[in-house]
Amino acid sequence: MTKRLVDKIAVVTGGASGLGKQIVSHFEQQGAIVYCTDINPAGAKTASDHVTFVQHDVSDEDAWQQLILEVQSRHQGLDILINNAGIGDGLGPSGPEDTSWQEWQHIMSTNAGGVFLGCKHAIPLMRQSGGGAIVNISSIAALVATPFLTAYGASKAAVWQMTRSVAVHCAKDKIRCNSVHPGQIETPMLEGLFADVAAEANATEDQIREEFLKRIPQGEFGTANDIADAVLFLASDEARHITGAQLSVDGGMSAHP
Ligand SMILES: NC(=O)c1ccc[n+]([C@@H]2O[C@H](COP(=O)([O-])OP(=O)(O)OC[C@H]3O[C@@H](n4cnc5c(N)ncnc54)[C@H](O)[C@@H]3O)[C@@H](O)[C@H]2O)c1
Repeated sequence: MTKRLVDKIAVVTGGASGLGKQIVSHFEQQGAIVYCTDINPAGAKTASDHVTFVQHDVSDEDAWQQLILEVQSRHQGLDILINNAGIGDGLGPSGPEDTSWQEWQHIMSTNAGGVFLGCKHAIPLMRQSGGGAIVNISSIAALVATPFLTAYGASKAAVWQMTRSVAVHCAKDKIRCNSVHPGQIETPMLEGLFADVAAEANATEDQIREEFLKRIPQGEFGTANDIADAVLFLASDEARHITGAQLSVDGGMSAHP
């Protein structure tokens, strides 16, 4: 089968863990040249001919400028940006009355600010390359109420809305922008959420896991592979006429009241 991203230059943020790590692996297998970035190098895939790791904080505008300059000087273009890096709410209660202002700002600047900066600095280089594809990782938390994850849900709704603005802004430049909305996917982030909720509810993590499972119509958690497959499709030329779209990968959760 023909590889789907041969010679495409891609940046994947948050590529050292969970979903990002699988996206990097999918892209490498499909022939892309990948810049895997993360604030934390631990766990990142070992560099290869096709993968370069860059330590990078998505909420730091200078770091974005440096990264894009590096890609430009080495490859003269950029085809794909996957804005995947993100954080959950901190430990403890995260409802509207409990979230601290510092926590709100931290989550918004990483999850929404990081996507904004990525789009802002990648678009000019993509335009220069004749077009490209941006995929922003939002969440089911953008689509349903999240009273226990107030700031997180708001940050992911911002990503969803921003995606559509970028899509329309860039449509004439042949730059596509879409959002992927994972449901509950087995990664370190979901394990952290189980631990937090269990501590708050005075329950075991296994009990919380069972409770979460009941909310998924398909009756199983998603895998990083499920998300990477969806991202690969949207990043590839097979999705050439798709922009401004929201793709939920959630086992039916967002379709279920
Ligand atoms: N796992 C899920 O169930 C789920 C559901 C919905 C949405 N998501 C979203 O998917 C994305 C990936 O989540 P995951 O489950 O793989 O989590 P994860 O914690 O396994 O990985 C997230 C990665 O982002 C990196 N990161 C955090 N802050 C950063 C920053 N400021 N700059 C650069 N990198 C940073 C972390 O170091 C980590 O490697 C996130 O945006 C998350 O909100 C995950």
